[in-house]
Amino acid sequence: MRHFLQILDASRDELLKIIKEAVRLRKTGYEGEPIKGKIVAMIFEKPSTRTRVSFTSAILKLGGEVIYLPASELQLARGEPLKDTARVLSRYVDALVARLNRHSSLEEIARHSSVPVINALTDLHHPCQALADIATMYEHAGGLGFNVSYVGDCGNVCRSLLQICALLGIPISVASPRKYWPAEQEIQQYKTLALTAGSRLEFTEDPEEAVAAADFIYTDVFVSMGMESEYEARIRDFLPRYQVSTRLFEKARPNAKFMHCMPIRRGEEVEDEVVESGRSIIFDQAEYRMHTSAALIVHLLGGSR
Ligand code: CP
Repeated sequence: MRHFLQILDASRDELLKIIKEAVRLRKTGYEGEPIKGKIVAMIFEKPSTRTRVSFTSAILKLGGEVIYLPASELQLARGEPLKDTARVLSRYVDALVARLNRHSSLEEIARHSSVPVINALTDLHHPCQALADIATMYEHAGGLGFNVSYVGDCGNVCRSLLQICALLGIPISVASPRKYWPAEQEIQQYKTLALTAGSRLEFTEDPEEAVAAADFIYTDVFVSMGMESEYEARIRDFLPRYQVSTRLFEKARPNAKFMHCMPIRRGEEVEDEVVESGRSIIFDQAEYRMHTSAALIVHLLGGSR
């Protein structure tokens, strides 16, 4: 892959290599400076805790340098075209990590960048989150033999999770109100990929049905950044049926674990009791953001380990 704008930019082999390397990094630690002398610029239009800090820490641990660029402080904010920004920054740095409001803006940057571009979240995709999600499950399950259930809003996090599960042949069942499902054509695309990988991908409006075979139950906020004007309508549509609760966990496998990309809105998409329970592996998941970012950066910048 040249850029990592969505999961489908990577092959199954590349995804597995990155995930396994992340699991190794967590176990054995960081050694050497595989990207010494490389500089990564990070353009952020939106707030971030995990993505910003995990990428920064990963790059520093690998021997590289980071320049954090809030979009509001670039000439972008005064109307400089994305294509000029991309061509100029490509002359200074070795990779661009960008969190942008619109996926089309990220694609525009990638079209004009001569260095790898990594999606740090857009309205449509969050592929770096999905890498960390699967690495976490891989470690907890001891391999790829597990079932995933996603309950809640089918936004960027869910889309990237669907793509990675489809490519890697991981069974996934999604429960969401039908009006929040992706377009039928997109669902069919992922179902075809899943079938090709020997797996299945299912959509339902019934959370209890979706979690019945789950080893991991995953949710995200009902109202993502930039959707604040939809808050009341979304809360009406999702609550109480789609909240991940202790009661919902009773319908899943006995050892099922709870996952969330964070930040969490306790009492909305999940009960506080679930977040704080022994089932919750959210902090391992957050930690994996750093290890999968490290493995991705090394893969894209051609460092050797
Ligand atoms: N999960 C995630 O992307 O967290 P941040 O918004 O804090 O980066």
